[in-house]
Parts: sequence; structure tokens; C-alpha cells
Amino acid sequence: MRRTFHIYRYDPDKDARPHMQEVDIELDGHERMLLDALMKLKAQDPTLSFRRSCREGVCGSDAMNISRKNGLACITNMRALQDPIVLKPLPGLPVIRDLIVDMTGFFKQYHSIKPYVIDESVPPERERLQSPEERDELNGLYECILCACCTSSCPSFWWNPDKFVGPAGLLQAYRFLADSRDQATAERLDNLEDPYRLFRCRTIMNCTDVCPKGLNPAMAIGKIRSMLVRRNI
Ligand code: SF4
Ligand code: SF4
Ligand code: FES
Repeated sequence: MRRTFHIYRYDPDKDARPHMQEVDIELDGHERMLLDALMKLKAQDPTLSFRRSCREGVCGSDAMNISRKNGLACITNMRALQDPIVLKPLPGLPVIRDLIVDMTGFFKQYHSIKPYVIDESVPPERERLQSPEERDELNGLYECILCACCTSSCPSFWWNPDKFVGPAGLLQAYRFLADSRDQATAERLDNLEDPYRLFRCRTIMNCTDVCPKGLNPAMAIGKIRSMLVRRNI
């Protein structure tokens, strides 16, 4: 079956500015997912650049804007897409080349929330235990694959990428606030209590709408807001 793509192309070494390229390709039915079709396109034109690794929706590296919605190419079924399939890099992040974006700012915000358990007390002989109920509190949080689909669909992040943590980082901030083993609740809340880092979220909900893992960053942000309100009463 013949399918038509409109693909964002930009090679900073050669192009004065980005352009959209129209490409038709004959698919033989083995290309179930968009990533399969992209691999075939790359075989036809090796200069086409995109990231990918696991092809199972686990590594998060093939996040892109697919016909106006962020998603992962490897778990986007070709049958769900209408022609022309419009592929662009994730919005709001600097483009390195074609569909590859610079994730430095995204990961800087992620690291700013200290994404690890903090507990300065003497460690027990074996491990720090949690009850099954305490462990359940982390469901819907730990599964994040850091693909940036949410953060790069958030207008608040587009406008303030250096100041607003963004939904992915805030989901992880709550993941550690919710962890019964973590002892740094006050420090974590101090780190978020300013007009930008958390409160730039305008509850537009794009983040929750696009997450390919079905997570809900907007809800996590709401829970952090409640923690801040409660401690200031
Ligand atoms: S709910 Fe908040 S974080 Fe999510 S897209 Fe909207 S403004 Fe961004
Ligand atoms: S919350 Fe979802 S969309 Fe955002 S980085 Fe994690 S997996 Fe990707
Ligand atoms: S290639 Fe790893 S998530 Fe798609």
C-alpha cells in the first residue's frame, strides 16, 4: 500500500532553514508500526535522522510529533494514521537535525528535582522496607520513561523552559514525595515553591492527554500543590 509522509527536514550544516519534505513509500504490510515505516524510509534515504532503540515503548527515544500529537513511533499503529502522515520533532525543544531534538534542557529540569531517594540515616543491614500499601503509592509514577512527550506538549514549558520544571520532572518530583522511604519532603517542597517551578502549570492537561504510558502528570502536579497548601496552613 502506498502511504504519503510530510516530514520535517533540517540539516544545520546544509539548510538555511527547515522545510517539509513530501515522500511517498510503498509498504508491503509488514510495517505495522510507524517506526517500521520510518526504518523503510531511512533505507530509501539514509540522511533521514531520528532516534530509536528498544522498539517496544520502553526507552522513550523515538518520541516525535505525529500528525499534530506527540507520541512514540514504535507503538503508533500505521492503521491509526491518515495520509498524509505529518512528522515533526517534539515542539518546544531545540532541533539538532530532522526529528532529533536536544534534550539537555529537559534533563536539566529532571535532575533539578533530585530524582533519587534521600535518607541520611544509617542504612539497615539489608534494605529499606515498604509495606505493600506504601509501594502502591508509587504506581502511576515510577513507570515514566522520560520520553518528553508531555513536557514538549506543555505551553507553560515552551514559554519558560529554563524556569518551569515541566510535567515529566514534576511527575518525578511527586514520585519521590510519595515514597515512604524518602526523608527530604520539606527540602523537595522548598525547591518547588516559587512562581515558576511548579506554579506555571495552568492545568491545560496536554501532558496527561499525550502520555504514551497512560500516566497523569497533571494529577501529580495537583497533589504537590495540595502538599504545599497544607503545609502553609
Ligand atoms: S497540566 Fe500543567 S504541566 Fe500539564 S500541559 Fe498543562 S500546564 Fe503543562
Ligand atoms: S510522564 Fe509520560 S509523556 Fe511524560 S515523560 Fe513520562 S512517559 Fe513520557
Ligand atoms: S524505540 Fe524505544 S520507545 Fe520507541
